[in-house]
Parts: sequence; structure tokens; C-alpha cells
Amino acid sequence: MRKPALPAPGTPLCALDEIDDTGAKGLTLGNGTSSLNIFLVRRNGAVYAYLNLCPHAATRLDNWPDRFLTQDESQILCGNHAALFRIEDGLCTSGPCVGKQLEAVPVEVVEGVVQIAGYPPLRG
Ligand code: FES
Repeated sequence: MRKPALPAPGTPLCALDEIDDTGAKGLTLGNGTSSLNIFLVRRNGAVYAYLNLCPHAATRLDNWPDRFLTQDESQILCGNHAALFRIEDGLCTSGPCVGKQLEAVPVEVVEGVVQIAGYPPLRG
């Protein structure tokens, strides 16, 4: 199955203030067959973003809107079979997909807006 492409760098996603610190927010980018579900996690002032796609069974992680974190907000939780993932890098540390990783989405915060990050500078 072909995965929809990310929006162009600089595409605004939401205001930083829309996410509690620590908190999470799900977003659907695009429409129809070209839509892409992602989620954002804000922690200690930083924002992390991942595809909303569990590496265990390729389903959404959230069973309820914006519920991506454990109760103590220390880890990302898949609501299907309780896999746990580190917020900082999406690595699964517990559950049926230990060692696998959520797919990161590059984001940056510019003037209070979370947006798709620019491509890394070319080296050479
Ligand atoms: S689908 Fe996420 S742990 Fe099974």
C-alpha cells in the first residue's frame, strides 16, 4: 500500500498553545485516500510528531480522540494492545512490538505555530 506523502515543509499544523505540556493532539492531513493521520506530543517545551500508525498491527494508536499518552503522560500508549513507546524517539519499550519504532514526522515550531519542518541542509 502506498503511503500518502507529507505536506510540504512549512505547512502549518496547529498553534503550539493547542497542545498541553505534556499533552498530545491527533491531526488528519489532507482528504480522502491521500489523507495522513499523525499526532503531536508536547513535552518540556519540545514537540514530537509521529504517524498515527502502530508498528504492531498497522492501526491507529488512539481509541479516543487525542488519547495517545499513558495516564502519567510519561510514554506514548497504543490503545489496541497496550504497546508503550518513548516520546522522544518513538521506540517501543513494552508490548507486542518491542524494538520497533513509530515513524517520525519532522516538525518545528516557528512563531508559536507547529509546522512541517524543512528538509535538512544538503552537505557536501
Ligand atoms: S496495534 Fe498497537 S499494540 Fe497492537
